[in-house]
Amino acid sequence: MTTVRLNSADPVSFATDALIVGFRSGSEAPRPVTSADALDAAFGGKLAASLTAAGFSGRPGEIAKIPTFGAITAPLLVAVGLGDDASGKDDAEGLRRAAGAAARALAGTVRAALALPAGSAADAEAVALGALLGAYGFSRYRTGEGAKAPVAELEVLSPLPAEEAGRIAERVTALAESVTLVRDLVNTPPSDLWPGKFAEIAEQAAAKAGLTVEVLDEKQLKDGGYGGLIGVGQGSANPPRLVRLSYTHPDAGKTLAFVGKGITFDSGGLSLKPSASMDWMKSDMGGAAAVFGALLGIARLGLPVNAVGYLCLAENLPSGTAQRPSDVIHSYSGKTVEVLDTDAEGRLVLMDGIARAAEDAPDLIVDVATLTGAQIVALGWRTAGVMANDDAVRELVVEAATAAGEGAWGMPLPEELRKGLDSPIADIANLQPERWGSMLAAGIFLKEFVPDGVRWAHIDMAGPAFNKGEPYGYIPKGGTGAITRTLIGLAERHASI
Ligand code: BES
Ligand code: MN
Ligand code: ZN
Repeated sequence: MTTVRLNSADPVSFATDALIVGFRSGSEAPRPVTSADALDAAFGGKLAASLTAAGFSGRPGEIAKIPTFGAITAPLLVAVGLGDDASGKDDAEGLRRAAGAAARALAGTVRAALALPAGSAADAEAVALGALLGAYGFSRYRTGEGAKAPVAELEVLSPLPAEEAGRIAERVTALAESVTLVRDLVNTPPSDLWPGKFAEIAEQAAAKAGLTVEVLDEKQLKDGGYGGLIGVGQGSANPPRLVRLSYTHPDAGKTLAFVGKGITFDSGGLSLKPSASMDWMKSDMGGAAAVFGALLGIARLGLPVNAVGYLCLAENLPSGTAQRPSDVIHSYSGKTVEVLDTDAEGRLVLMDGIARAAEDAPDLIVDVATLTGAQIVALGWRTAGVMANDDAVRELVVEAATAAGEGAWGMPLPEELRKGLDSPIADIANLQPERWGSMLAAGIFLKEFVPDGVRWAHIDMAGPAFNKGEPYGYIPKGGTGAITRTLIGLAERHASI
């Protein structure tokens, strides 16, 4: 992975392959936001005019590369737009995005330095994290001449004292390593990532990170009464797993439980998806990956909180052993569920995970899932839907996501949708007869498996987990790592001291 350091050197004389400089747009020519006078002088007052001539105006995310011909020590200057004062306002997310876009544009470069606002700890952290996240690449499956390697070494030019600078570098490295792991897992094809393999990866990583790990295999799941995981996984030659990761801290006051949907491939099962909806369903384990990444991040940061993560892993395939529409399964909670549509499988693995997580007596359960296409219809690709059985909990989750720069918006759980899930023969059906409000109906379904008195939130990130379009800001194509940093932020908000 790309490394990052903070360095108090001067941008004009710093020896690096490329100097990234943030620029404001405005009524006049674009202007550097840091070291403006020194850079102006180094370029003989012609920097702004050259950039304008190159068509660069400093709009957010805009990039221009200009050779420096010795005007400064770095041979290349990369201008990145931060927008005007009103729109840019140096908020953390604006800095993360600009740094990310610039780092991504420098793939193939070995060393780059960033001259963006980094005088405060918050700004320096945003620049360093955005750059690390933007430098991501996934080249494991390329042979020969592939995509250019991500920039190897990033240096954030910041006046902060060395000790604080070191702490910030460590913190953003921990966050970026978690997000990188999540993106890698989501990008990995299902031929190389099935439930058992995911569980093995989690066991190995957990051992290294000092987490307690427990894996239930298909026999233990059957004996334990996990009918949802068994039902969804029974059509595949790769049987389901439930992974429990646990992190404890001696000073912890609160315990958080995270439950992730981990469908390593969602074909829909016998209720088969059309091909165009299926080819990106390797990303249907994004929730479990985010929970896994978050637990590792929380451990690495040593947060004074207890955290438990459940990865609900299964592969949803059609076969002679697959569950059928109209089958009734016995969930871990004891409730029976009529499976009207085998493509509504996420809620079936999550109902077991949530009921099991409640046994840890957590202060809060948060489940994360690529659960419904209806989330994308309602909120688009970049905004996750957040539902909860408690208004304050929902607001807390939305606030943690917003602070992390991850799109999220509160959604209701209207009680009247419950009757649409009535089954003529079982306690509940996994599908309502109409498509309207399907994201909320899925939330209502899950709520049935949350014991009374347990605070719970549900994050539907069907859109945000996987970027089918072009990269933007610090978000690459493919796996995005969505909600990983939100979960870590929630743990920080629950930390004692
Ligand atoms: N994994 C899908 C949801 C999904 C859709 C995720 C698009 C990412 C992008 C989920 O298992 C699913 O198939 N949901 C169905 C539910 C329906 C049958 C009630 C859906 O949304 O169509
Ligand atoms: Mn499905
Ligand atoms: Zn699914």
